[in-house]
Amino acid sequence: MRHRKGTVALMLCEWQFSAPFDVTKGNFTGHLQTRASALQLLSMSELRTVEWVNGKVRMIDQTRLPDKLTYVTYSDYRQVAKAIKDMVVRGAPAIGVAAAMGLALAANDAKGTADKEQFMRRLQAAAEVLRKSRPTAWNLFWAIDRVLGKAQTTKERPSEVASRLVEEAQRIAEEDIEANRKIGEHGAALFEDGDCVLTHCNTGTLATVSYGTALAPIRTAITQGKRIRVFATETRPRLQGAKLTTYELLRDRIPVTLIVDGAVGYVMKKGMVRKAIVGADRITTKFVANKVGTYMIALAAQANGIPFYVAAPSSTFALRPEQSEVKIEERSPQEVTHIGGKRIAPKGVEAFNPAFDLTPIELVTSFVTEKGVIEPGMLSARLSGQ
Ligand code: MRU
Repeated sequence: MRHRKGTVALMLCEWQFSAPFDVTKGNFTGHLQTRASALQLLSMSELRTVEWVNGKVRMIDQTRLPDKLTYVTYSDYRQVAKAIKDMVVRGAPAIGVAAAMGLALAANDAKGTADKEQFMRRLQAAAEVLRKSRPTAWNLFWAIDRVLGKAQTTKERPSEVASRLVEEAQRIAEEDIEANRKIGEHGAALFEDGDCVLTHCNTGTLATVSYGTALAPIRTAITQGKRIRVFATETRPRLQGAKLTTYELLRDRIPVTLIVDGAVGYVMKKGMVRKAIVGADRITTKFVANKVGTYMIALAAQANGIPFYVAAPSSTFALRPEQSEVKIEERSPQEVTHIGGKRIAPKGVEAFNPAFDLTPIELVTSFVTEKGVIEPGMLSARLSGQ
């Protein structure tokens, strides 16, 4: 049965490889032309989604993609909190790094404070604002706690502590890239030449500082010479798959086919994809919280005998008993009733818009982390102390 399904999948996958694919062109207009032309030459792995530049936080404005690759720069932590809330920056690891850098901005702002206690109070106040920006991504809370912890244990004057916090935020950013590269190395072994792989939302460079989580094993497998085609779900309502994943993959010349979210079961049943890999916003001992729709993908994968992988750095894992409650973000109903600012549903209709859902970890074939590929039953043993 398994073998027969595999054979059908192979035929369909190879047919998919013969289909032409295009790369993004003409995405850059107006005054950005010259700089944008240079940016256009960079692969996605060379870009930095969030970066500390000259004492400020610079990030790619993801609300303008795929039409324009532009950057925004913030000098105040409140602006960073708003950017996270408005999804200028999104994706759990990128949100975490943005929050850490936001806190570094607050530290710099308070560095003239005479005593450490007052400095810490200002930092705590900034941390509370950043914590409220988005509730589900564990990386946000993890990064804030790490920077606050560094502030508490650094026994120096506020001005020196502020410098240490800027370094800490930059270190978190560098570690993110290193973790993603390792996720890529460990996860690449899960893919074979000729695989068609389904993914959901955006888990690439744009969801991290660079390289991505669930897209990392695909990138690495391709650099190893394996031919992989990605099936990207549209990801209603914010369309991260349609807007961002396809942008990233086309830019890196990785074959990609865009499907509507509701087509997942059909493409799996037809054998058009052999594996599924997604990222995560928070992983507890029981559930994977990830972009809404993930649970249905996991169920469809199970029903069709397709491996379902979850790729995430250890900063996404909240495995302690007191961390088991997951708050699922509910966003504006307008994201459901409108597309591109235009109303598509009748006026006055009620809409419910959970941004994430919870997939029981029993549906996960393996987790791919920077520490290796881990079976669901081994999570606590392999990642204790997170
Ligand atoms: O609402 P978003 O775009 O921030 O949601 C992002 C996701 O759900 C990703 O799958 C998750 O953060 C993992 S990204 C590496």
